[in-house]
Amino acid sequence: MKVLVTGGTGYIGRILIPDLIKKGHETTVIDRGFIDYSNPADDYGSEVNILRDDIRTCDPELLKGFDAIIDLAALSNDPAGNLNTMSTWDINYVGRLRIARLAKKIGTSRYVVASSCSVYGFKDEICTEKTPVNPLTTYAEANVAVEKDNTALNDKNFRSTALRFATVFGYSPRFRLDLVINAMTFYGYKNGIIKMMRDGLQYRPFIHVKDVSRALIATIESDNDEVGGKSINVGSSSLNLQIKDVADAIKKKLGNNTEVELYGDPDNRSYKVNFDLAKELLNFETKYDLNFGIDEIINECKDGLQDIPQMHTVDYYKRLLEYETELERFSNLKSKIIL
Ligand SMILES: NC(=O)c1ccc[n+]([C@@H]2O[C@H](COP(=O)([O-])OP(=O)(O)OC[C@H]3O[C@@H](n4cnc5c(N)ncnc54)[C@H](O)[C@@H]3O)[C@@H](O)[C@H]2O)c1
Repeated sequence: MKVLVTGGTGYIGRILIPDLIKKGHETTVIDRGFIDYSNPADDYGSEVNILRDDIRTCDPELLKGFDAIIDLAALSNDPAGNLNTMSTWDINYVGRLRIARLAKKIGTSRYVVASSCSVYGFKDEICTEKTPVNPLTTYAEANVAVEKDNTALNDKNFRSTALRFATVFGYSPRFRLDLVINAMTFYGYKNGIIKMMRDGLQYRPFIHVKDVSRALIATIESDNDEVGGKSINVGSSSLNLQIKDVADAIKKKLGNNTEVELYGDPDNRSYKVNFDLAKELLNFETKYDLNFGIDEIINECKDGLQDIPQMHTVDYYKRLLEYETELERFSNLKSKIIL
């Protein structure tokens, strides 16, 4: 297939693109490159066409000729979405709706957008796709809106799906230290202290980044048109984990000298998610468990993985916004939009 991936040089994209190539898909990427710190072409190779462009403004002609579009471009977590709520709506809702509408108009047959299980907020029950959503942040609200409007475009010629991913973990060449398992493992290794939010009793659903890639590819390759017009939870019931279990698993790998330190106010709001629909419609089940993810991050640390500003998505975006303000203040010309 000819596949276009927006946001394809980010954390998930850096795993997905090589997987698409391995599976023989001809792949193109559109990404603003907000957070690139190494050259994606180094791991994608020259086969991948990387277009430095913005989903809000790119020429519609660029979207022509693809069988499938995987839409990953976004300000990619709850706190980043709160930094500048207008930008979050502009990119995560307006921008992604624009891509889906153009894709349909141009004749792309399959489209998938990456949403998040955070649309459920906190619930006592186990959330299925029938559970009413409860978005608590701008990021989650924009996901709810884009899921609704993008899947409503579904018809027999344009298959539009939203995947609600659990919180991702695992190594990627654009590593994220704002993701809980990644940060706990990385700093546990570097500092001998695993920082655990609150008392760790709260449940969260998780998924390894390689499984995210597998689910995205399974969706575009699936011949089951029932996946169209739907939001589907993607993760694993075995990875609905209490944060204290994550801390224990990391401590077991790093040894007894590693300390677990609590931070944050007590707050046991939890959520667990049911993933049966992905199994039923996509025959999708996860392959990679918590220990696999912890081991690979520890191995990357042993190989010299360093903490750099771009790995802290929120702080890095904050810097970009400050830089934009500075540019506006000191320039007579209107600055180029950064965020
Ligand atoms: N990582 C997770 O835990 C997780 C969980 C659920 C859903 N998701 C979703 O998956 C998608 C990818 O997440 P990620 O972890 O790879 O995030 P990321 O921040 O690493 O990557 C996002 C990419 O989108 C690009 N981008 C942002 N705005 C753009 C724009 N206007 N035009 C073009 N490119 C733009 C950025 O430059 C970046 O490369 C996001 O939609 C995110 O919300 C991620």
